[in-house]
Amino acid sequence: MILNQQTGLTRPLKTLVKMLAVASVFATSFNVFAEPIEIKFSHVVAENTPKGQMALKFKELVEQRLPGEYKVSVFPSSQLFGDNNELAALLLNDVQFVAPSLSKFERYTKRLQVFDLPFLFNDMDAVNRFQQGEAGQTLLNSMSRKGIVGLGYLHNGMKQFSSNTPLNNPADAKGLKFRVMASDVLAAQFDAIGAMAIKKPFSEVFTLLQTRAIDGQENTWSNTYSQKFYEVQSQITESNHGVLDYMVVTSDTFWKGLPADKRKIIKEALDESIALGNKIAAEKDNEDKKLILDSKRSQLVTLSPAERQKWVEVMKPVWAKFEDQIGKDVIDAAVAANK
Ligand code: LMR
Repeated sequence: MILNQQTGLTRPLKTLVKMLAVASVFATSFNVFAEPIEIKFSHVVAENTPKGQMALKFKELVEQRLPGEYKVSVFPSSQLFGDNNELAALLLNDVQFVAPSLSKFERYTKRLQVFDLPFLFNDMDAVNRFQQGEAGQTLLNSMSRKGIVGLGYLHNGMKQFSSNTPLNNPADAKGLKFRVMASDVLAAQFDAIGAMAIKKPFSEVFTLLQTRAIDGQENTWSNTYSQKFYEVQSQITESNHGVLDYMVVTSDTFWKGLPADKRKIIKEALDESIALGNKIAAEKDNEDKKLILDSKRSQLVTLSPAERQKWVEVMKPVWAKFEDQIGKDVIDAAVAANK
């Protein structure tokens, strides 16, 4: 054995060290032994919801198409971040994808408040036409100066009121306390009927209802079912008075930091997941309503056309209060989507 004077290594050992060095450069360059990069997706709903299923599909597609390079960790039910901190966490890159409801971006843009205006959209087809049209697509960029990138809309559905007393007329809601998402438009909507709006995170709603700290809330059939609100609310008024949809967002820093080819693959995976989520949203809207009614825990309040018209008349003046903040052009485009 020949000992090298400088390194103190034998020749076979030197060869092995060299081979290991080359292998390590190769492994790093081609990400062979490196851990996949983790992408975190946090949301506040259960897994058996349109958003929950969409996030899981996104994980499946990304990991299938970028094996060993990226992994997606999905955190449902406010496990990682909740309503109060998910967007701040996104901007700190503590999470890379979130999909808050369109009512929860108020601190970052006022223009998305259009989606909260009561009795604006006739149905989900109109919502979809507006989102996919020019005005809706422009709104995806409404937070770009804040570092938030809108990647697409995801449906949940139209909202219904739930309560412990039947709400046929707006006067029936007078003096009652309703939980709302953090949106001034939603608060104004309840002010208009003489009720009290309490802004609270989604994760607290069940307990607030159960303990009777509040009297009611507004939500989709899917959320009312998956959160078991119907077990602690005896009445659901089928009002379809507003929409609860989402924007899937990431941060500018994360998005631009991705290599262009990976970004393209991830965006395609997201678009496909959103398409699946939208299909599930349409199905769940009917299925979850049926499950709630079949449970007999909650009774359905169906509004006559004349009763519904009273809600429209008392709530619609809210639009004018927010027209300057939202932009008349945006509201007009939303109204036009009804045709
Ligand atoms: C709510 O807070 O009621 C909803 O935004 C929850 C959700 O994400 O669907």
